[in-house]
Amino acid sequence: MAKQIVMLGPPGAGKGTQAKMLAEKLGVPHVSSGDIFRENLRAQTELGRHAGVYINRGELVPDDVTIAMIRERISRRDCNDGVLLDGFPRTAAQAEALDEMLSDLDKGQVVAVPCIIVPEDVLIERLTGRRTCRAQGHVFHIAFNPPVQAGVCDFDGSELYQREDDTVETVTNRIRVYHERTQPLIDYYQQRGVLLEIDGNRPIEAVFDGILSALTGV
Ligand code: AP5
Repeated sequence: MAKQIVMLGPPGAGKGTQAKMLAEKLGVPHVSSGDIFRENLRAQTELGRHAGVYINRGELVPDDVTIAMIRERISRRDCNDGVLLDGFPRTAAQAEALDEMLSDLDKGQVVAVPCIIVPEDVLIERLTGRRTCRAQGHVFHIAFNPPVQAGVCDFDGSELYQREDDTVETVTNRIRVYHERTQPLIDYYQQRGVLLEIDGNRPIEAVFDGILSALTGV
């Protein structure tokens, strides 16, 4: 039976950084709702143009659009043995829709939800210093995780850029939206006995080790 994992935590907690490492270790696809929206935004698809309006304001893309997009992605064959979800679900309606779609598609259920906890001042510092690779979305930080050559991705040599939603103003709104809409999911998954609290205010490798040991036996 497929084992699905959901990464939870505020913007900048390190979900994407950890999810990439964990997906490789577990041999399952990393499905990031934010990455799919940004790919569509770059390609100027209808979905991308629609989502971009919300993303650039730091608001959530409407549930119906997001749920349909994730359902389509999860229904693919590469997710048959499990998937690592990053950035979805983010609202109560999305969490319920995820349970329904996993059941409909016969893809098992959510078995673990690592929730990365980081103080708010650290989140702002991480997001405003983040640099993202244009070609494949590799993530760096100008101080905490710098590339070898400033402005150039270590992995594919493409340009590093600052995401438009990583300004102090938009980051502050994203954190507010997280508290209002996403934090309630901590209780939702805690009640189901699958929440794993992870101290994210440590170096990247230490956080990764913390997640791996929390997942032992899942
Ligand atoms: P999304 O892309 O999901 O953004 P997010 O949740 O705000 O998360 P981030 O990507 O900002 O942070 P992260 O936790 O992945 O941190 P990272 O690893 O990069 O969503 C963007 C937008 O899309 C949303 O605002 C919304 O509009 C829309 N959207 C997406 N999903 C949606 C949904 N389900 N419903 C509706 N709308 C949706 O790390 C951050 C920085 O810190 C990096 O520079 C990294 O190098 C550094 N860092 C990481 N770990 C450490 C560490 N341990 N120590 C020091 N530095 C670290």
